[in-house]
Parts: sequence; C-alpha cells; structure tokens
Amino acid sequence: MLENLTQQPPDALLALIKLYDADSRADKIDLGVGVYRTDDGATPVFASIKAAERKLVEEQDSKAYLGPEGDMGFVHALMPYIFGSDPTMGGRIEGMQTPGGTGAVRITLALAKHAGVGTVLMGTPSWPNHAQILKDLGMQMKGFTHATADGTADMDSLRNALKSAAKGDAVLLHGCCHNPTGIDYTDAQWDEIAALLAETGVLPILDLAYQGLGLGMDADAYGTRKVLASVPEALIAYSCDKNFGLYRDRVGAAYAMAADPSQVGAIMSNGHALARANWSMPPDHGASAVRLILRDPEMTKLWLDELDDMRARMRQVRDRLAAAGKVGTLDLTPCGTQNGLFSMLALTPEQILKLREDHGVYMAGSGRINIAGLTMGNIDKFIGALAAVTA
Ligand code: LMR
Repeated sequence: MLENLTQQPPDALLALIKLYDADSRADKIDLGVGVYRTDDGATPVFASIKAAERKLVEEQDSKAYLGPEGDMGFVHALMPYIFGSDPTMGGRIEGMQTPGGTGAVRITLALAKHAGVGTVLMGTPSWPNHAQILKDLGMQMKGFTHATADGTADMDSLRNALKSAAKGDAVLLHGCCHNPTGIDYTDAQWDEIAALLAETGVLPILDLAYQGLGLGMDADAYGTRKVLASVPEALIAYSCDKNFGLYRDRVGAAYAMAADPSQVGAIMSNGHALARANWSMPPDHGASAVRLILRDPEMTKLWLDELDDMRARMRQVRDRLAAAGKVGTLDLTPCGTQNGLFSMLALTPEQILKLREDHGVYMAGSGRINIAGLTMGNIDKFIGALAAVTA
C-alpha cells in the first residue's frame, strides 16, 4: 500500500532553512522563516524564559499527564493580555493549550468545521500553512485580496467578500502583524470590520500569532477586542512562539467565545476531543514557563521589556528600509509603516533566485522578508543587492 504515497515537495519555507545552512558564504543573509534575531543575528532564549525555566526545574514536582486541555493556568494567565479588562467576556470565553500557533489554527478550523462551517474566506496572500490546513481538513477557501498595490489593506475586497458570504461561512483574519505582508488594518478599519461581521453573521476566526511584535501588546489586540465586543461568537488562535521566543517548544492556545456562557462547556469538549485524536495533549514545558512569567510581576516586567526591545529594533530596521525609498523598481517606503516580522517585496521568482545565488540573500518565494534578519551590519548590503537585481 505504501507505494501509493507519491513524493511530496518539502515545505518551501522550512526547506529554505536547510539551503541557508548549507551556504558557506560568511556574509549570507537569512530573511526566511519568521524568527526574531538580534542585531548580532542571534535568536537567544529570552532572559525571562531562562528565569522561569530555572524556577520550573526547582518547583516542578511531576511530569504526569495533564489532559487534552493542557496547562489551564497558562491558558487563563494569557487571557487579560489578549482580551483586556473583561478577559472572559462574562464567562463566554474559554480556551485550551495547543502545540504552537499551528496547533491553534488547526483546532480552531477543525472546530469551525465540526460546527458546520464549509467555506472560509481568507485574504490572500496569507501564511501558506493556512491554505494547507484548510485543504487537509477538506474545507473550502474563498480568497479575497488582502492588500492594494499601494501597500494598504484592501477594504473593498474584504467588504465585498463579507457582504457576499453565504450563511455558515467563516472568515480567517490576522489579528496583527500580517504574515506575509506586514499590512495591518487600522483601528478605524477594524471598527468597520467588526460592524460588518455583526451585520453579516460571518464567523470570525482570528489568528493572533504576533501580539506585541507590531505596535505593542494592547495596540496589537485592538482588532481582536473590537471584533469580540461586536459579535456573538468567535474563535481565536494564539501563539507564544514569537512573543516569548519559544518557537521549537510549540506554545499556543485556542480560545472560543460563545454566544452564551452555557454553551462554552460543549464547545470546549469538542476541542478536547479533537486534541485527543490529534496529539492527545500539548507539550508542557514552554507553556509552564509562560505561566510562571505571567504570575510573577518581576518576570512579567522583564518579559515586556524584552518585547519592547524587539519591537524597537524591528522599527529601526523598518525606518532604514523606508529611508532607502526607491531602490531599482522597488519602493521600500511602505516597509516603514508596516508591522511585525514581515514585509513583502514585489520581486519576480528570477530576482529572488538571483538574490540567493549571486548575493547570498535568502527569502521566501513570495518575496516575503523577515525584517529581523536585517541588522545594521547587513542592511546596506541587502539594499545594494536589491538594487543590483532590480536594475
Ligand atoms: C513563518 O511564517 O515564518 C512562521 O510562522 C514559521 C512557520 O511555521 O511557518
């Protein structure tokens, strides 16, 4: 039977990591997968995580199973940061731990499917794994254009998609730091989106994978909170992989907001059953570390300061790109007002290949660049390489 399985291409983004590693050029630049890097090009473990891990080693007295919901102390400790001053919306929101943001997206989409959603509206381009998960779940995707040519969000396209949605459709929205474009909705646009969702009854599924990497923890949650305040029900996929730097530890959470608190138990029981059938229970270590941080004001402050530093550095890179303005056929100015780890450059596949082969610059095939892969030491070389391939 196994010969029926045909060769599948490796995930393009993850394959890029291996290609980069195999390149022996000392001045190569990795703008591929979304991990934060310091100005020295390192991705260190947060000091707050190190402190929490030391405490965990001291205090953890068992590694016995928890359950499919994972560490509920972690799940609840995050909620005020995501949902604000009424973190359960009067008992209507509950969550569960998931393996990373991908696990959270997987379980929120599967929950939507079990609830009867067949079609998910999604702005394109999006994180490639969104479409892969939808396909694997056998759900239909209906695309709308996320961004206009001038580098702002395409509200007309979203408005039309929501207004022409069928009953029982859902929409997948990036809460902040849009991946891959860095183009977020403004607060005024979120206000309109929330009103449109309330009017059309389309189920919102919010993917919040980069909270704190854009404008700040509260500012990055504006859209999520606005939507939740306006609609009866929603699903939220959350990741701590980036804002706690826990990538390989796989730390995420899935939340559901029900129309009525009495429905929450049944919704979560479906989530637990799905988790049991997929991964049984999520890995514990990283989530425990996050829980310890969030329950300790000193460690929380240390973590928030670290997040501030990351954001400031990415802003510095963005300012430098924007200051370069027009480079060959590209205009880097919009990079200055975009948010988070990513921006997308209008490069052809040939130019992207040339950047890699001739200049050692590695980026996703879509033209997405990881802003944090640029440093004050390599940004001039990068801009020079862009000029050379787009001349
Ligand atoms: C990315 O888009 O680079 C990250 O979200 C990592 C991943 O899993 O794709």
